[in-house]
Amino acid sequence: MKQKITQKFKELHKTNPVMFNAPGRINLIGEHTDYNEGFVFPAAIDKSIVLAINLNNSQKANLYAYDLDESVEIDINHIEKNDKPWANYILGVIDEFHKKGFDVKGFDCVFGGNIPHGAGLSSSAALETVFTFAFNHLHHFEIPKTEMIKMAQMAEVNFVGVNCGIMDQFISFNGQKDKALLLDCRTLEYEYKNIHLEGYSIVLADTLVKHALASGEYNIRRQECEKGVKILQKLYPNINSLRDVNTTQLKEAKSYFPETIYKRCLYVVEENERVQQAGNYLDQKQAINFGEMLFKSHEGLSKLYEVSCAELDMLVTLAKATGDVIGARMMGGGFGGCTINIVKTEAKEHFKTQLRTDFQQQFGHEPKFYEVSIENGAEIIAL
Ligand code: GLA
Repeated sequence: MKQKITQKFKELHKTNPVMFNAPGRINLIGEHTDYNEGFVFPAAIDKSIVLAINLNNSQKANLYAYDLDESVEIDINHIEKNDKPWANYILGVIDEFHKKGFDVKGFDCVFGGNIPHGAGLSSSAALETVFTFAFNHLHHFEIPKTEMIKMAQMAEVNFVGVNCGIMDQFISFNGQKDKALLLDCRTLEYEYKNIHLEGYSIVLADTLVKHALASGEYNIRRQECEKGVKILQKLYPNINSLRDVNTTQLKEAKSYFPETIYKRCLYVVEENERVQQAGNYLDQKQAINFGEMLFKSHEGLSKLYEVSCAELDMLVTLAKATGDVIGARMMGGGFGGCTINIVKTEAKEHFKTQLRTDFQQQFGHEPKFYEVSIENGAEIIAL
């Protein structure tokens, strides 16, 4: 992939580019908790976006999306929404730099990658991350990493219109080979943890249902959580987010809640507790208990938070029924995309065959499987 991108850049622009890479991610557990100031447990993967880029001493930016064979030319001083959806992630990043007073100069670029779109593996965050990282590097802005992560996140919020949390951009910047990152989304303190799952493999199963509905529903979930916090503040004036309450406090306040809002809040509060427990179980090499947290997480996401869909639910049910999976759940924003499965390594092929057959019977197509390795976050790559 790296070679193809470099080659294309040279062909189009007749110079040598500077090359960057930013990965997609999995999330072991901690879904829809990031924007509630809670905990998440992601890891960067070997599916990524590669960017070839160089400044061009002009006021123009020439963007070329290799996988789509599409290009867009923009005036760097007039950043406005583009009708090519992919371009908006990049324009959003430029806009954030400008808003912070960093003058992004004209550039040429070619980018491409192997992160499936709409699969819940954060291809959009990888795109924002790789450009943020590259602009900072090429202009010698020396922006602190945490600041860059927030800028990449805000590109999506302000320009693309998804009011996302910080998890995806954070891990795309900070991933570390063979480690998952347990992040406190309030303080942004984090800890790398070994994924002690000897004898088990992490297998992703893709419903191939694109989460098109997701951004609208995603923003609605955020608002529902905010409503929940307002209700809780009447009882507990010192709280700022769902992070600040435990299940006992929430249950005591139940009568003040409309049912839907209560369900959303219960999911988030329980999920935060699960992430902490899951982290401890991994440390103690208690794979079975760790996996159980994933099943519970899925149940909450499906029944309380209602961001799953029939295909995701089916994949989790089928996974459980094989008897070879100790934990499975939907991953990412929801409404489609992948499940993450902790599967006995020796039974991996059987697991895939079983899911293929049964899923196909129900939905008329097979799911797709990905086995990912855990890799480093954004970096410059040698030519
Ligand atoms: C998307 C968002 C993240 C996070 C997840 C759900 O991936 O970009 O910020 O909220 O959904 O956990």
